[in-house]
Amino acid sequence: MQRILLTGATGLIGGAVLHQALGRDEDVTWVCLVRCTSVEQGRQRVAARLARFTDPFTAQRLVRKIEIVPGDFTRADLDMDPRLDACTHVLHLAADTSWWGGERVFRTNHDGTLALARRAQAMAGLQRFLHVGTAMICGAAAPSLVEETAYPAADAEHIVGYTESKAATETSLAALFPDLPIVIARPSIVVGHSTLGAAPSSSILWVLRAADALRMLPCDPESCVDIVPADWVAETLIGLLKKPDLKHDLYHLSSGTAGRTRWADVIAAFEKAAPSDGVRAFQRFDLDRDRSALRKRFTEVFGLGDASMRAMLRATRAYYAFCALDLTFANDRLLAEGFDRASSLASYLPVCLANSGAITEQFADDIEMFASIPPCPALPTDMPLAAFA
Ligand SMILES: NC(=O)c1ccc[n+]([C@@H]2O[C@H](COP(=O)([O-])OP(=O)(O)OC[C@H]3O[C@@H](n4cnc5c(N)ncnc54)[C@H](OP(=O)(O)O)[C@@H]3O)[C@@H](O)[C@H]2O)c1
Repeated sequence: MQRILLTGATGLIGGAVLHQALGRDEDVTWVCLVRCTSVEQGRQRVAARLARFTDPFTAQRLVRKIEIVPGDFTRADLDMDPRLDACTHVLHLAADTSWWGGERVFRTNHDGTLALARRAQAMAGLQRFLHVGTAMICGAAAPSLVEETAYPAADAEHIVGYTESKAATETSLAALFPDLPIVIARPSIVVGHSTLGAAPSSSILWVLRAADALRMLPCDPESCVDIVPADWVAETLIGLLKKPDLKHDLYHLSSGTAGRTRWADVIAAFEKAAPSDGVRAFQRFDLDRDRSALRKRFTEVFGLGDASMRAMLRATRAYYAFCALDLTFANDRLLAEGFDRASSLASYLPVCLANSGAITEQFADDIEMFASIPPCPALPTDMPLAAFA
């Protein structure tokens, strides 16, 4: 009997994991560490997330299968709940994914993960501690094909503090917990669901749609972006968690060179879904030099009237900075383990577009990541990204 401690069950990938795992009749108990004031409130928080993957009745049925442990992973080392002791596996997804949360993000992601690892040391039957990082710890100056072993690197040029905190976490886990069976999984960029489209989350999908609406790209349309769907990430994490023997202790969960997405293919998919002139010409612009051009175009297309739209402009510019990096994350290790390839974005983008609402409403799925900057009207939206890092 396996007992899997899951953190981050109320988040996008946590929901995708539970949606897939709880649908199967397996001899596994999922123990979810959830921030809540009571077990029932925690259950309903997880049910709300599951209801984005299925109907509310099925979500309620599935959520009855899990054990809820109310708690905060950043204080897990102080949590003596005996239900944690018997866990055989840990899937650590929880994180503060805010890009500009500063010290708070570091305390949660780095210090909090070390607290969870200390708690895991008391799990006598622990077989695997699967820590979910991010492939973006490579920073902005990485080569276009990123290998797992090259990072974390002390000289990586982080665009945001979030990736820096994830890099430091990996370094500290390796240095301080050689006794734990730690495996690191680093997803690339998670967008949509290959069959449910935008229903589970519009995170980052809105950025692609905003770029399409703006008809502006900060990079060559022949350059690539490494995007994978949430359901594939979930399936692969469950596989990495349970596979008895793994050849490595570090894996990218990425599309790799065969499955990466050319911007030209994204543009073609948009043209197919919503035909325009057949050409769909995009203006190439420079993120630093042409800030005012982006702001002007954004104002024309979306308006810039309220704080949420100003946040959306800042978020668009920030995501553009990542999109322009032209990075592909090697996935040879994952394929050699026998895992399936991810569907390419171009193949499932039509499903995502088919059940998408307004772009500005979809931004709501990411607004918390950008909420750390006070919605101050005086804040210049053309402030360089580094100022927020
Ligand atoms: N989505 C991507 O594109 C992507 C790409 C690469 C890597 N990743 C990594 O994958 C993981 C999951 O990402 P996601 O997109 O699913 O994130 P998400 O939707 O933002 O969810 C974050 C989860 O972490 C939980 N959490 C945060 N602080 C917590 C705390 N102190 N105690 C307990 N739970 C806490 C949240 O719980 P509450 O509901 O209580 O806030 C929520 O369940 C993260 O580690 C992220 O860095 C994501």
